[in-house]
Amino acid sequence: MSVMLDSALHTAQSYSGTQSGEVGGVQSFDLHPVEEDFRETVLTCLQHQPKAVPAKCLYDKRGAELFVQITQQSEYYPTRTELKILAEHGAEIATHLADGVLVEYGSGSSKKIGTLLDAITNTQRSLPTYVGLDISQQHLVESCEALASQYPGLATVAICADYTQPLSLPEIETLRGKNKTAFFPGSTIGNLQPDEAVAFLNNVAQLVGPGGGLLIGVDLKKDKAVLEAAYDDAAGVSADFALNLLHRINGELGADFDLEQFCYRAFYNEAVGRIEMYIESLIEQTVTVGDAIISFQAGERLLTEHSYKYSPDEFGALADRAGFGMANCWIDDQELFLVAYLVACDK
Ligand SMILES: C[S@@+](CC[C@H](N)C(=O)[O-])C[C@H]1O[C@@H](n2cnc3c(N)ncnc32)[C@H](O)[C@@H]1O
Repeated sequence: MSVMLDSALHTAQSYSGTQSGEVGGVQSFDLHPVEEDFRETVLTCLQHQPKAVPAKCLYDKRGAELFVQITQQSEYYPTRTELKILAEHGAEIATHLADGVLVEYGSGSSKKIGTLLDAITNTQRSLPTYVGLDISQQHLVESCEALASQYPGLATVAICADYTQPLSLPEIETLRGKNKTAFFPGSTIGNLQPDEAVAFLNNVAQLVGPGGGLLIGVDLKKDKAVLEAAYDDAAGVSADFALNLLHRINGELGADFDLEQFCYRAFYNEAVGRIEMYIESLIEQTVTVGDAIISFQAGERLLTEHSYKYSPDEFGALADRAGFGMANCWIDDQELFLVAYLVACDK
């Protein structure tokens, strides 16, 4: 469903007419991916059966902050496991990332990049130019500014854009003519359905060009109880994160969702290999969104996110479909998480 919506509602993103600004050592570009389609996406999704919204709608400023809190919950193993892999193998990973331009997709709070920049510095290599790319504009710019002040001398560019759409880098001096490598941590690839993931990886391959690299974090298949706990923590932060979508729709689209009449559900669908996250209506009810009236049955669900889990072989095959070869991969001792370094093949 989100593939259909994305292709129907988006056109290729371009920098023409875009103002760039430089604040706090960060050159920023805003391609305005959110304002353009949030209303249309939400209304189309809520009027569709079954109801489902793309995960990108979850990341307004409050959503981005709640996601950071999720990563701090004890049940949420992906962040600490990925960071441990990056730190343990930093010297080896650094050989792929020095110099050139390093583009982080879905950069969020830009915390993981610090581990890599430290590894590059510790191995006496030159820092790359850093490009943070995210749909959540304010969080992106604040995070890039914090990074630039932590690493003086790091040329830093922030691009607010939708990474599910084809994208090139702006024609600016700091980026021109340099080798490009991409970084896509957080197992965010799992939010995309396999065909969407291949389309995304194809776009990344176009951006980095033949021989260019992609360092990517992938969550592995594992015990259902471990997975379900990670996506439905006891403190209820995952629930707040999902329900914040209704809060956002109320604020931005003049809707009247009563958050007390909805709850959060997360299940591992073992047959498909994915966590499915939903907002569930507790009663039969109607909600007004702008001029539209949306009906919910009692127990009806609105899908907010998938998180696909892969075996190392399954992920290798997915990367292969997108024209990437797996040059290296690192897995933690408990086999929870995989970090792969992929290289774009010549077409
Ligand atoms: C799962 S979080 C990961 C954040 C961070 N990279 C990490 O590893 O902790 C996903 C990030 O991708 C961003 N994001 C989600 N959909 C996006 C889209 N379509 N285009 C650009 N950024 C997107 C969100 O704002 C968020 O920062």
